[in-house]
Amino acid sequence: APIFAPDLSQCGDANVPLRKSPGTNVSVHCCPPVSTNIIDFKPPRFTKTRTRQPAHLVSPDYVENFKEAIKRMKALDEKDPRSFTQQAKVHCAYCNSAYEQMGFPSQDLQVHNSWLFFPFHRLYLYFFERILGKLIGDPDFALPFWNWDDPGGMTIPDIYVDPLSPLYDAKRNPKHQPPVVMVQGTTTTTLFHGKEYRMGYSTDPGAGIIENGIHLSLHKWVGDPNQPLKEDLGNFYSAGYDPLFYAHHANIDRMWNLWKTKLPLPHCDFKDTDWLGSSFLFYDENANLVRARVGDCIDTKTLGYDYKDVDLKWLENEC
Ligand code: C2O
Repeated sequence: APIFAPDLSQCGDANVPLRKSPGTNVSVHCCPPVSTNIIDFKPPRFTKTRTRQPAHLVSPDYVENFKEAIKRMKALDEKDPRSFTQQAKVHCAYCNSAYEQMGFPSQDLQVHNSWLFFPFHRLYLYFFERILGKLIGDPDFALPFWNWDDPGGMTIPDIYVDPLSPLYDAKRNPKHQPPVVMVQGTTTTTLFHGKEYRMGYSTDPGAGIIENGIHLSLHKWVGDPNQPLKEDLGNFYSAGYDPLFYAHHANIDRMWNLWKTKLPLPHCDFKDTDWLGSSFLFYDENANLVRARVGDCIDTKTLGYDYKDVDLKWLENEC
């Protein structure tokens, strides 16, 4: 059976493993507000496709709008499920065992290290983007992506480094260096997406190559080694507190599209109904609680967005 969306009223403290003393956890509270009124996701109506652009190439006007949107999100009451704090907590709750699996209370719910990695983060960013758009009255607003697979995008994009900007986060490694790029084709869907994760399975069946490779390396590369738990990006529980998280994950999400459309081998998603039927809960731009399934997010165009086509130098250089 699929992994079903959790019961928010059963949310408990999240556990953050202590790196230095394996086996010990710190508890963090990151449960969202509870609502009993759950709406099933319907693809949005839109007239114009929202195009996500590389963060290092956006225009000054775009940056002003984006900053304003994040500023407004940070200014919302902390209890509002659309506030920046609550949005950051979404990641913590789904990634640090705050929920148990529906139907299998003895098993925690964890969206990483499995085939839920890509779809969960796609939907999470989708709702985050819609909330930002609503806050600035621009339904066409699209997140930027951190184009770390392009030579021009291999450092933290400039728009995130001004300490006075709402896009800044102080908890980052002061000594960052450009990462190594390692996007590659995979022969099987499982190698790309991660191993199957069905109702009753234990957490962490196994990550795909993107999740384990460039995704994790960049989390660790940006996280601050001087913070106790490598906050912010260096730890799941705190990653969502850095605005850069959403640009990093937009590029991860873009890799899913590229894998299907640009890489030489034909690649396709799972047809497995346990994958397609897995679901999550998110608050939308109107603060309604929405149940979205993996099957709802297979094609970004039905969600109303796409990625700007940029040169894929790493693909051209393959010999
Ligand atoms: Cu949910 Cu990059 O992690």
